[in-house]
Amino acid sequence: MIELVHVKKSFDGKSVLNDVSLKIERGETFVIIGQSGTGKTVTLRHIAGLVDPDEGHVLIGSVRMDYANARIKNVLREKMGIVFQSGALINWMTVRENVSLPLIESRKYPKDKIEEIINYHLRILQLSDAKDKMPGEISGGMKKRAGLARVLVRNPEIILYDEPTSGLDPVMSRIIDELVRQMQHDYGVTSVVVTHDMSSAYYIADRIAMLYQGKIIACDTPDGIKNSSNPIVQQFINGSIKGPIEVQ
Ligand SMILES: Nc1ncnc2c1ncn2[C@@H]1O[C@H](COP(=O)(O)OP(=O)(O)OP(=O)(O)O)[C@@H](O)[C@H]1O
Ligand SMILES: [Mg+2]
Repeated sequence: MIELVHVKKSFDGKSVLNDVSLKIERGETFVIIGQSGTGKTVTLRHIAGLVDPDEGHVLIGSVRMDYANARIKNVLREKMGIVFQSGALINWMTVRENVSLPLIESRKYPKDKIEEIINYHLRILQLSDAKDKMPGEISGGMKKRAGLARVLVRNPEIILYDEPTSGLDPVMSRIIDELVRQMQHDYGVTSVVVTHDMSSAYYIADRIAMLYQGKIIACDTPDGIKNSSNPIVQQFINGSIKGPIEVQ
């Protein structure tokens, strides 16, 4: 479904991804973990076609995202929803307007159906009371949930989540985890989730990949990762100060 094949990427002469290969199956929830600044967001941006690799390629189904022209990229992106780290809301629109925007743009639904869809998502993400507020008037966690609602209303085949639970309280984090699982179970959604939240990773993932110094150093089921014999993986998942990880 999604494949990165020997992807290399540098910025300003600094190597970020150094021969990353991944294969994510249709309907899988695939979690990417790793230190801050290690290239997790850059990996998601490659999948979304927002960044092209210097070497190697990115496949969505059988189509090369990195090779695609703007029109094909847009067709591929229509299948995808991206939940950005910050929520990425439009500042001059209310929460309700932000969330309804993709449905209005798609011109697929009548007005009352749009209302029904957005009200449902705002309710499950506990945003009903915030729907007429502007992004500047709501908390960081609410912005994040509104960004998520805006993606979910489109019912995409692929969802890319960048830190969906960071900055959320534990109960809200679990609600988001359940949503990720529900999208997989009910709609067969393929999800790629970047997270620092190990309890969330274990709960939602079919497989977890760890990025370290530009490479995938482990890729396994949650149990496989927990029992990894790699000392770098063990130090990271246990959050130990002592160990082989080089702090940049
Ligand atoms: N467009 C860009 N131009 C220059 N450097 C970039 C660009 N995008 C990312 N980088 C660099 O690539 C590296 C990896 O960034 P990335 O955002 O993928 O990290 P991350 O693993 O998502 O970290 P975090 O957990 O803090 O979000 C960083 O050193 C960053 O500065
Ligand atoms: Mg990031």
